[in-house]
Amino acid sequence: MDDRKATLAIHDPPYNLVAFEERPLDSFMEWCAQWVRNTDRVLSSDSSLYVWLGADQNDGFQPLADFMLMMRQFPFRARSFITMRNQRGYGTQKNWMAVRQELLYYIKGNPAFNVDAEYTDIPKILRGYYKEVNGELTENLQRGKSDTIRAGNVWVDVQQVFYRMEENVSGCYAQKPLKSTNRIIKASSATGDIVIDLFAHSGTTLLGAEINARRCMTMDIDPIYCEITIRRLERFRRTGRTGWQNGHAFEDEYVCGGNDGIDLADSISTKPDMAQPSLF
Ligand SMILES: C[S@@+](CC[C@H](N)C(=O)[O-])C[C@H]1O[C@@H](n2cnc3c(N)ncnc32)[C@H](O)[C@@H]1O
Repeated sequence: MDDRKATLAIHDPPYNLVAFEERPLDSFMEWCAQWVRNTDRVLSSDSSLYVWLGADQNDGFQPLADFMLMMRQFPFRARSFITMRNQRGYGTQKNWMAVRQELLYYIKGNPAFNVDAEYTDIPKILRGYYKEVNGELTENLQRGKSDTIRAGNVWVDVQQVFYRMEENVSGCYAQKPLKSTNRIIKASSATGDIVIDLFAHSGTTLLGAEINARRCMTMDIDPIYCEITIRRLERFRRTGRTGWQNGHAFEDEYVCGGNDGIDLADSISTKPDMAQPSLF
């Protein structure tokens, strides 16, 4: 960071579920405390921290519940517990279908929050909530600042990334939608601010920062994901494309089809839903 401070951190660590790399809960939490401490060190005195984290419903809702408690030892203040609804879910006929992703929002100091970023494209359709203003009976649509609804802390308007979407990055099993990342960046940072993400994977935060004219510092423990992240940004700068859809980041090295090379596109063009035993 070279002594520079970030205004915003967006972290999406592995969730300690079987699909990722499950380890004893204590050691997972210790590891989480380490990267939260590192994050605290590089965030400015007025800053925001967003953490995507799952709850294993077959194992006491770990690690989400434990993470929330652990966060109380840090100077961060809880602000919101956001749920993003997935289009596809998983589960059995004997339980509620699991369709959510959890996002925790914390702050340090008094960071700005740009409420404009919260407005969706979904029109307000419910009328009512009558109230008298200046002697006149008004309903909510007249009083509201916008014709569309605010996302609030239940995001139902974000398409889950799948292989037919332009932003799809083949081989990235845990890619977050750019729309959710853009929303966070716009709400909790300003032009030129530094955004950090310790778990780059497909590089969604880096790309979101580029699109919104922020600076981004990001990393991944796996050099393949680092390479994908760099290539995604470079390709975006060259072509304006946000992902590879049916192609992939290593097209120059691996010729697809024919006998010239490994047919990588065939093997990675659909996302393995690793955390999802049965899909609907
Ligand atoms: C859930 S994915 C992040 C997805 C990302 N938000 C996106 O939209 O593509 C988690 C990433 O964390 C990386 N990771 C796991 N342990 C790590 C560590 N100790 N330090 C840095 N990265 C790590 C994994 O390699 C994986 O790419």
